[in-house]
Amino acid sequence: MVSEGNNDRIVPATREWISEAAEIIKSGGLVAFPTETVYGLGANGLDEKAVQKIFEAKGRPQDNPLILHVSGIRDAMRYAEVNETAEALMHSFWPGPLTIIMYAACQADVEDIVPAITRANLGTVALRAPLHPVAISLIELAGLPIAAPSANRSGRPSPTTACAVADDLGGSVALILDAGPTTIGLESTVVDVTRDAVAILRPGGVTKEMLAKVVDLFEGDESDLSHRSPGTKHRHYAPDIPLFLWDGEERASFEMAKGVRWCYMGLREPPRDLDTSHRKVIFASIDEYARDLFGKLREFESSGGEIIIAELPDGHNLGGAVRNRLMRAAGS
Ligand code: TXA
Ligand code: MG
Repeated sequence: MVSEGNNDRIVPATREWISEAAEIIKSGGLVAFPTETVYGLGANGLDEKAVQKIFEAKGRPQDNPLILHVSGIRDAMRYAEVNETAEALMHSFWPGPLTIIMYAACQADVEDIVPAITRANLGTVALRAPLHPVAISLIELAGLPIAAPSANRSGRPSPTTACAVADDLGGSVALILDAGPTTIGLESTVVDVTRDAVAILRPGGVTKEMLAKVVDLFEGDESDLSHRSPGTKHRHYAPDIPLFLWDGEERASFEMAKGVRWCYMGLREPPRDLDTSHRKVIFASIDEYARDLFGKLREFESSGGEIIIAELPDGHNLGGAVRNRLMRAAGS
């Protein structure tokens, strides 16, 4: 995607601009802001009309619920029924890249506190306390839970820079707070704690290995979980040019590279005997792969490349999240 000239909404994330952004949120508007994972598109999560604007700006299906960003455990208790498992996870991983799905809290057991539109009519809510100082100040100054999906048009790679937000959504957001590229680069891990065993609905910065040290994880068939995670049924993370995956062994993916301008990213060098690539990025570590994955998808598609080939890393640690995003981006 070439920039559409909406960069004039980008402002530095200074105290003054964060206060201005908090005022916009309080008055029902939309603001994009950095978190440690990706940039989010924020609105007052308790205001139905404001939340509706998020769905419209992103072109997001109404059946895909939003994450509420809160300041911590005490804040979370106002909106959700925080059980022991949730509390253990919050103590270990908040603030940080972990979103926890819990039963939504009701007032006097009848009136919903979080509007149905934010929850996509589910009886549960998704809560996360982000680690980024700008996100933390914004939540504090707004004094509200901030509903925020990733700040991309629905289906596109998530934005890890303010410019990527402007390219996708610049026309429909009042302000984009710029604090440079995000450090993790992939969205938060989403876990469901409403059953006995904790289910990972989306892998992310808090890895399976890290979670297993604190709680019992669901070990059953992962396909049983897809109905619990509305976001997983929609196409996601896709660049505008075709993406092929390489398992590091078979050469088949590189057949596609013949006679076209191909871009490559991965931890290993591609096979040697191919035509020269149009763009090539070799990451030094899996953390770097995670951090730069979405940015490179966007860079490759606007570089004049015709196809992208990406290496699928093994599933350990952040590799699980990188594999998940690559497979979904490739539509496989
Ligand atoms: O890192 C992140 O999580 C970023 C930053 C901005 O915080 N946000 C983000 O939001 O990635 P979004 O909307 O792009 O992804 C939220 C995911 C979706 O897959 C959605 O279906 C799922 O969380 N989700 C939200 N509420 C849910 C619920 N009540 N039950 C099951 N899944 C839920
Ligand atoms: Mg998203």
